[in-house]
Amino acid sequence: HSLKSLHTFALNSQCQNFVEITSLEQLKAQGFNAPFCLLGEGSNTIFLDDYAGTVIKMATKGITITERESDCLITAAAGENWHNLVRYLLEKNIAGLENLALIPGTVGAAPVQNIGAYGVELAKFVESVEYFDIATQSMVTLTNEQCEFAYRDSVFKHALKNKAVITRVNLAVPKQWQPVLNYGPLQSLKNPTPTMVFEHVIATRNSKLPNPYTLPNAGSFFKNPIITNKSLAALLGRFVDLPHYKYGDNHHKVAAGWLIDQAGLKGHKVAGIEVHQQQALVLVNHGQSQGPDLIAMIKHIQAVVLNRYNIKLEHEVRLINSKSECHITAENV
Ligand code: EPU
Repeated sequence: HSLKSLHTFALNSQCQNFVEITSLEQLKAQGFNAPFCLLGEGSNTIFLDDYAGTVIKMATKGITITERESDCLITAAAGENWHNLVRYLLEKNIAGLENLALIPGTVGAAPVQNIGAYGVELAKFVESVEYFDIATQSMVTLTNEQCEFAYRDSVFKHALKNKAVITRVNLAVPKQWQPVLNYGPLQSLKNPTPTMVFEHVIATRNSKLPNPYTLPNAGSFFKNPIITNKSLAALLGRFVDLPHYKYGDNHHKVAAGWLIDQAGLKGHKVAGIEVHQQQALVLVNHGQSQGPDLIAMIKHIQAVVLNRYNIKLEHEVRLINSKSECHITAENV
């Protein structure tokens, strides 16, 4: 089965078996023989090679809204499209998620990497996450705290990796709307409505981020590195303009896109893979590219950034080789 249209980076890979899950009964009847790979819309997963196992796509649907005293409880099935959920809620006058508009992918994938944009992270709204536990064949509900959310991180990337299939996400959205407008491009909005914020986020994303369905890509390729305040001070001595954001008391997050851009890598190409001209944190695939080309590109960017700034970039995108997920780590050259 071809994986090309099942992941937005669109490498020309195949998998041995493919299953699309549309009901919980079907999920419970699924064998989960290793190796298997769980997938939503494939916007944060890249198949580097032919996959010698089963790709299981979660495509369950359904959204319910329950009004409570001070908030609305939104229950959404894993296979719902994230952006459609944000838009649907706005149409029902439920506002709060608009900063997360246009993030590609499904509701079920959203908690795994704690999707975030323009000063808001999913974690802010999660009341609980329901999953099917593969070992015990039972349904489990985790509270927000138990999800261990952090920047682009959750328990689903660690203790529950390959053990849990997220089936539903429950969001608590306060009735009192509190817009978040402190992030650069949103600061120009004065007394906006939720729809104005929604549209501004969409326009901003469209101006910088290539549409994964017209120019294959997987969004931000690397995480914004988190460095100590001491390392930041040293870097700012050499690079005064380095964009940085406070992260806890002792750390700062720095803009990986800036690091790559300032190293002169915009437009750098390996086969059909290119560092995007409008946003250096995004790699685009013009086609005619294969897994090894992408690996070469990742290693090159990591080496250049390490040599220039002494920072090890970690890829944010999930990379799958023939049998399992793999990680490419920065090395000096
Ligand atoms: N910058 C450059 N050159 C570039 C790219 C960025 O100088 O080529 C600078 C920008 O001018 C800005 C700073 O770097 O000062 C940060 O750039 P931007 O606002 O575009 O955001 P980002 O940090 O690169 C993060 C998320 C995005 C999210 C945006 C907006 C990560 C890994 N990425 O990107 O999320 O949309 O903020 O909130 O945290 C994703 O995860 O796939 C994703 C797209």
